[in-house]
Parts: sequence; structure tokens; C-alpha cells
Amino acid sequence: MGSAIEVHGLVKRYDGLAAVAGIDFEVPAGTVFAFLGPNGAGKTTTVEILEGLRRRTEGSVVVLGLDPWADGATLHRRIGVIPQDFHFFEKITPKEAIEYYRSLFGSDADPGRLLAQVELLDKSGARFDTLSGGQKQKLGLALALANDPEVCFLDEPTTGLDPHARRAIWSVIRSLRQDGRTVFLTTHYLEEAQLLADRVAIIHRGRIIASGTPDQIIRAHGRPARLRVAGPPGLADLLAKELGVRARFEDGRIEVDLADKRDALRILGAIERSGLPWDSFTTHEDTLEDVFVRMVGRMDDGALKSEVPS
Ligand SMILES: Nc1ncnc2c1ncn2[C@@H]1O[C@H](COP(=O)(O)OP(=O)(O)OP(=O)(O)O)[C@@H](O)[C@H]1O
Ligand SMILES: [Mg+2]
Repeated sequence: MGSAIEVHGLVKRYDGLAAVAGIDFEVPAGTVFAFLGPNGAGKTTTVEILEGLRRRTEGSVVVLGLDPWADGATLHRRIGVIPQDFHFFEKITPKEAIEYYRSLFGSDADPGRLLAQVELLDKSGARFDTLSGGQKQKLGLALALANDPEVCFLDEPTTGLDPHARRAIWSVIRSLRQDGRTVFLTTHYLEEAQLLADRVAIIHRGRIIASGTPDQIIRAHGRPARLRVAGPPGLADLLAKELGVRARFEDGRIEVDLADKRDALRILGAIERSGLPWDSFTTHEDTLEDVFVRMVGRMDDGALKSEVPS
């Protein structure tokens, strides 16, 4: 499987600011890549360089074997784009918009099928300025697919959508992958990235601070899994005595780190045998969001400290 996107040593400076400060990544063809990071981290800048809409300062960028800046006209026929904050002509309807894109790209996409795919068929004849925010986003996605693209760049495609509409977009993204297309997704919904992405990169102040599959990132940067058991503080003493395990007691429950999934069975067995009362248990594992929040928080704390004059 070749790479759809290859980025090496990419730098983008706006006057003095290095919005992208030397990043490297590759996106294998036919996969979903999620590019995550806090506001202002450099995501849209990177996406627009990949789309050939902004010029890079340094580094090499190859999309579908082309240089997006030098070969933009060729590339634009082969990619689909939803820009962040998608806008369109006020008076045009979704059906007309798709027909316009069809003629622009010489594609034979069926407007009805595209609008059904993004669950917007009922608004195919409504003027753009009468669509809700979520409906506008859905039209953006339909337009991004109108030229049968090999790579889709989706910059926050689900921001502002209700939970049902977000799931509709997720299923479109899954079907794009099933068709063998490559999806480059930016999102602030970490759950979405964890569910959809084959690989993820987290960018912070223009630098990539973690990358890999969601599981790899969680394993590398997450806390151990935890078992929580609701019951008296005596449970913690029991576990220390019986198993040499350290348990924290808080809010009417104990919490124990699990090094191994069998630890949970040993701990619950010891509690049950002790005859001490206990209510319920749950296990907790870090999500991509937990890891993201802690990593970015730590980087910001470090940056703040280093900015404080000594
Ligand atoms: N045209 C521009 N001129 C000057 N600075 C810019 C320009 N575009 C972006 N920036 C700056 O570059 C940095 C990265 O912006 P970018 O839009 O890439 O962030 P982002 O990760 O997409 O953020 P968000 O999650 O808020 O969309 C920000 O500090 C922004 O202010
Ligand atoms: Mg952005």
C-alpha cells in the first residue's frame, strides 16, 4: 500500500510565527488519518498546504504523487475538500450546488445519491441561506465528494452538528474508507478520532507531540487501567494486607491500578472472600481524549513556566 500523503520537514511561517515548525508524517492510501490539536496548533495551515491553497515555507509535501503548490490544478481534480467554516452562495440550493460542481469537474455524480448519503435529500431544493449550520456542513461534505475524490480533506466536518448528524457523517467517512479512499480529518472530538482513525497525529504549537494508532498512543501515554469498587475504606486495608496492593479510597469507593487484566479477578476474589460489604465495581481505561487533555495540558504548563521571567 503506497502513501497518499507524505510530509517531511514541513515549516510554515507567518511573519515571525512558525505556525508549523517542522513536521513529518505519512498517510497510507485507503486509510483515515486524524490530525488533532488545540486551537491555533497549525492544523488548518497544514491541511491548506496539502490542498495546495497555501504555500509552504520549507519542507517537502507530496499528495497523490504531486506537489500541491506546483501541480494544484491536476491535484484539485483528484481531491475533495471541506474547508473549516464552509460557506457558499446564499441563493443556491444543494441540488444546484452539486450540479455546479459536476460541471466544474466534469463528473457524473448523482446529486440525489450524494444528498441522500449525507442525509440532506429533504433540503435539496432549499436556498443555502435557509439551511441550518449542520445542514450547511452536510452540503459541504456532499460537495467534497462530487468529483469522486481519491483523498478527502475534512477540516472539522462535524463541528456544531447534533449527535445524530455527527453519526451520519461518521458513516459517510467509514464508507469513504471502504471505497478505498483516503481521509484526512481534523476534529476537536477525540471520540470521533478514536472511533474512525487508523492513525492519529497530535500537533501542538506547530510540532507533532504524539502519533500512531489510537491504541498505541493510549498505551504509550495513558495511565494504567483502574478498578473501582464501591465499599468501605477497610477494603483498601484488606487489599494491602492480603495482596500487597495499594488502593486509594475516595468518595465511598476504592481505586486500584491494574497492571494486568487478571489483577481485577484477584482483587474482586479477595474482597468477596473477606466478607466485607461492597456494592458495585467498574473498570476505567484512558480514552484518546484523556491522553490528549493531559499531554496538551502538560505541554502548556511547561511552556507557561518557561515564559515566566526568572
Ligand atoms: N494567514 C495567516 N496569517 C498569520 N497568521 C496566521 C494565518 N493563518 C493562521 N495563522 C496563525 O497560525 C497559527 C495556526 O493556525 P491554524 O489555523 O493552522 O490553527 P488550527 O490548528 O487550525 O486551529 P483551530 O483548531 O482553531 O482551527 C495560529 O496562531 C494562527 O493565528
Ligand atoms: Mg483550523
